Amino acid sequence: MQLDQININTNRIFDFTAPDSKAIQNLVSVSNEKSLSLNSIIDNDTVIDKTKYPKKVDCAWCYGTKYWDMLDEKQKLEVLWAEVARDVSMFIFLEQSLPPLYVGYINQYREGFSKETYEYLMIFSKEEIVHTLIFRKWLALTNEEIWPAPSDSYTGFLKMLPAVHPVVGILSTLTLEWAAETNAIFTTQNADVEPVTAKMFFEHHKEEVRHITFGRRIVNNWFSKAPESEKNVVRQIISKQLTSLLDLITCNNDLQKRVSFQLPFDLNDEKTISEIRNSENNKKINAIRFAEQLEWYKQLGICSWV
Ligand SMILES: [Fe+2]
Ligand SMILES: [Fe+2]
Repeated sequence: MQLDQININTNRIFDFTAPDSKAIQNLVSVSNEKSLSLNSIIDNDTVIDKTKYPKKVDCAWCYGTKYWDMLDEKQKLEVLWAEVARDVSMFIFLEQSLPPLYVGYINQYREGFSKETYEYLMIFSKEEIVHTLIFRKWLALTNEEIWPAPSDSYTGFLKMLPAVHPVVGILSTLTLEWAAETNAIFTTQNADVEPVTAKMFFEHHKEEVRHITFGRRIVNNWFSKAPESEKNVVRQIISKQLTSLLDLITCNNDLQKRVSFQLPFDLNDEKTISEIRNSENNKKINAIRFAEQLEWYKQLGICSWV
């Protein structure tokens, strides 16, 4: 079976229980009262102090390996800013792709979504547009360059999402958002971290918690009713997405393109990047930060390696 063979009931895309509907209505109400506005975190006068660390030092990708010790203090600071610029860039790529996907579902299946799902998909899209603009402003104020877009090996399958059951798009989005969000919060919420950067991620997180809640509700609902053959095809593709995503978050080999000096190691060497991704420090922090997410995927039968 292929993803595009998953049955779509266009009259009723999601067969909600009363608690599902209530939970989504609640997300709509809270969002209508509390959504971020564009200037609420960063405006053109905001000063970001680049002499400070933008994330916890022990969360640098190669921290705890011999490669980290090859860098001097100035280079370490530059690497940390580049790594956070990567996180910001990842949010931009993801979040500017969501509104067309979700609004596209609405245009395609308007009659098939309940009122609260219609409203929340619209609010979700609006919030991601605001987030994208906030992240763009952070890049401008820090003079950091946006990172190269992830290659097709990571994102190629996203192109097929508009044509398949919306649950696949919502789960794929959830997979990216949840991991990116957990990474951002885990690495930046500390008193030593540059305060504007820490606050931006903290405020963003408040809205992302609602997005994650929505995604989990929808996916749990669909998984509780779909035939095993349909669930298996979704499990297969999302499992691949999750594995390559966690690798990419742990260490991205485009770092050389975003620092001003020659790194004393080659991240395009498979052995080196694998050594960094599997360092004791990365294994330790990944086990903590991704634990809740991986447990949920395990319960759905999506990842069997946990
Ligand atoms: Fe967002
Ligand atoms: Fe989001």
